[in-house]
Amino acid sequence: MHLPHLLAPITINGMTIKNRAVMPPMGTGYGSADGTVSDRLLVYLARRAQGGTGLIITEVCAVDTRGKGFPNEIGAWKDELIPSLARIPEALHRYGAKAALQLHHAGRETFAAAALGMPEAPSAIPSAILGQPCEAMSLERIASVIDAFAAAAVRARAAGFDAVELHGAHGYLLNQFLSPFSNQRDDCYGGSEENRMRFVLEVVAAVRRTVGPDFPVWIRVSADELIKGGYDLAFMQRLAPRLVAAGVDAIHCSVGVYSTPGNLAIAGMDTEPGFNLLRARALKSVVDVPVIGVGRVNDPRLADEAIGRGDADMISFGRQHLADPDFINKAAAGSYDDIRWCVACNQGCIERLSFEMKSATCSFNPECGREYQGPAPKAEQPQRVWVIGAGPAGLAAAMALAARGHRVEVFERQGEPGGQLIPASKPPHKAVFMDWVRWSLRQLEYRSVPIHCGHTVGADELKEQRPAAVILACGALPSAPSIPGLDLKIVADARDVLMGKIAPAAPAVVLGAGYVGMETADFLLALRIPVTVLEMLPTPPVTKLTAHGYWLHKRIKDGGGRLILGAEVLAIEATGVRYRQAQGDQFEPAALVVTAMGATSENSLEAVLKDLVIPYRRVGDAVSPRRVLEAIHEGHRAGLEV
Ligand SMILES: Cc1cc2nc3c(=O)[nH]c(=O)nc-3n(C[C@H](O)[C@H](O)[C@H](O)COP(=O)(O)OP(=O)(O)OC[C@H]3O[C@@H](n4cnc5c(N)ncnc54)[C@H](O)[C@@H]3O)c2cc1C
Ligand SMILES: Cc1cc2nc3c(=O)[nH]c(=O)nc-3n(C[C@H](O)[C@H](O)[C@H](O)COP(=O)(O)O)c2cc1C
Ligand code: SF4
Repeated sequence: MHLPHLLAPITINGMTIKNRAVMPPMGTGYGSADGTVSDRLLVYLARRAQGGTGLIITEVCAVDTRGKGFPNEIGAWKDELIPSLARIPEALHRYGAKAALQLHHAGRETFAAAALGMPEAPSAIPSAILGQPCEAMSLERIASVIDAFAAAAVRARAAGFDAVELHGAHGYLLNQFLSPFSNQRDDCYGGSEENRMRFVLEVVAAVRRTVGPDFPVWIRVSADELIKGGYDLAFMQRLAPRLVAAGVDAIHCSVGVYSTPGNLAIAGMDTEPGFNLLRARALKSVVDVPVIGVGRVNDPRLADEAIGRGDADMISFGRQHLADPDFINKAAAGSYDDIRWCVACNQGCIERLSFEMKSATCSFNPECGREYQGPAPKAEQPQRVWVIGAGPAGLAAAMALAARGHRVEVFERQGEPGGQLIPASKPPHKAVFMDWVRWSLRQLEYRSVPIHCGHTVGADELKEQRPAAVILACGALPSAPSIPGLDLKIVADARDVLMGKIAPAAPAVVLGAGYVGMETADFLLALRIPVTVLEMLPTPPVTKLTAHGYWLHKRIKDGGGRLILGAEVLAIEATGVRYRQAQGDQFEPAALVVTAMGATSENSLEAVLKDLVIPYRRVGDAVSPRRVLEAIHEGHRAGLEV
């Protein structure tokens, strides 16, 4: 049998789950401000159940309004929310999935706007990342939050959920009590290890007491905080058996908190798949209840091996569920080529949610979060539509058009499709970016959509052929401000360097410390070329708060690369770059100067289309140079609307 371990059923305290694939909790921002479940959230979750996953754990659900992590977090803080919550298990059961509600209190990891007042925490120490002031909880408040968890678990049961998960991980309230990093109380809830464990053990015991012995309850923990001054895996190995004694039926083994360098709780592409399974194994060695492993496991084959090896009893696939809701059914059928893989870029999901304050989606799956809008309508009159440009925007548009029945042709100037995703996949750890290109090409092949490579569409051809409609997905070309010396032989564009069109020479200077510049520096350092990056801004444009940003900065620093900020380039000369800093003019020697200073949209065909009165839509970088997310989502939307 294919995937014998992953596809085997498992029973947790009387709840039998059809397979060991778990969708872990993922905050979406699809809820409503009053804590109720929106249609958007419901259909999104049901779509994942339809895809074959055995157990679906909802996103965070607040047990108390003061514990809300974001304004539209769903809630279980009052009985009136039960009918709304009940819609979730009802929808998931229709597809044979079990439903668990994740009970949450954010503690200090929130904002006053979400918590509707000053956030509360074990100690009045503001979050190191969010910086939001908070106040220390009184003993009365501690008792009432314990009661709130117990009452919320009872509401979950009344709503028809099969289980609850207590959120004890990722630096939220329960985790905050466990950690000497955030808990500096000197009463019975702080100080000694025993005291730091007390709150969590009391929450577990209260929940167990209130829901009774036969309702599955488990806890999600960060097995190791991986921060200076935090707790470690050995601590969690001491706590885990006590959690079981207090009443949990399973342990969900995550890792890291908000301040963990490299955001390992939601590890990016720079971290190895399955990197956290060793901690699941360590917890399994000290408890006799099922352990759920998680952490950059997106391939069901890896999950199957991990379960077979005894690392974990079940595996959570987080972001992979956003990228492709059907991946479990596809894997079960052996159709791996059809799976749209999550590349762990974090841009469309967690970074959008946390840094852009927008609802989560997936950069590579434009339908994620839009499932409630239903499938695309078939075209009333199939038309001959040309897509110009086979970058992500053009390929996404072509797939949507073809699915609706249009007669689509794609034209690409370069020798192969992919657009900027080809150079984007060259820096270290970014090869996965080509996974989506390969996946989309297979989808287009199934629908017999021709892609004409090495074919530049020009005005004459448009005049002669007159397609019924055109998608202009011509992307963007590198551009740079006018700096004397840009035409010298030592100067090359980052894309050409990444594509191997330019032989790297040492030392190199990269102009611009945005993602393209930093990744090109990373690429050159991997080839052992010494690199200096010059950036005009006084602070790094790539923040170390994102997973990829953290590792990029670290690799460049560890590799001996230098990032010079506040550096205004004055001129490029035959042997280096002259630039100005506050302290005076400087010269940086270089045998290669790489420009990574921006791009300009390529739209030369727009005027032709206007003249010919051919309807057209501009999408992706052709609108303005941005990211894969905008390219794929705009391309897809245009394909739905033509
Ligand atoms: C090094 C690098 C790293 C990047 N990393 C990331 C990242 O990590 N995350 C992220 O979100 N984004 C990243 N980007 C940006 C991302 O790749 C672009 O935003 C995205 O590719 C834009 O897609 P597009 O389809 O609009 O345009 P493009 O990818 O530029 O594709 C346009 C295509 O149109 C073709 N074309 C143009 N004119 C014609 C014509 N007349 N006839 C036929 N074909 C034509 C071009 O040859 C090109 O292949 C990166 C970019 C680079 C260069
Ligand atoms: C957008 C997003 C929201 C998340 N929200 C939650 C959450 O509400 N509760 C939680 O315990 N973990 C949350 N996580 C962490 C995931 O459950 C999971 O542990 C993490 O993504 C690592 O798994 P993966 O590598 O399979 O994606 C979130 C992750 C993402 C990407
Ligand atoms: S946006 Fe990136 S990390 Fe998030 S689910 Fe999509 S591919 Fe994965």
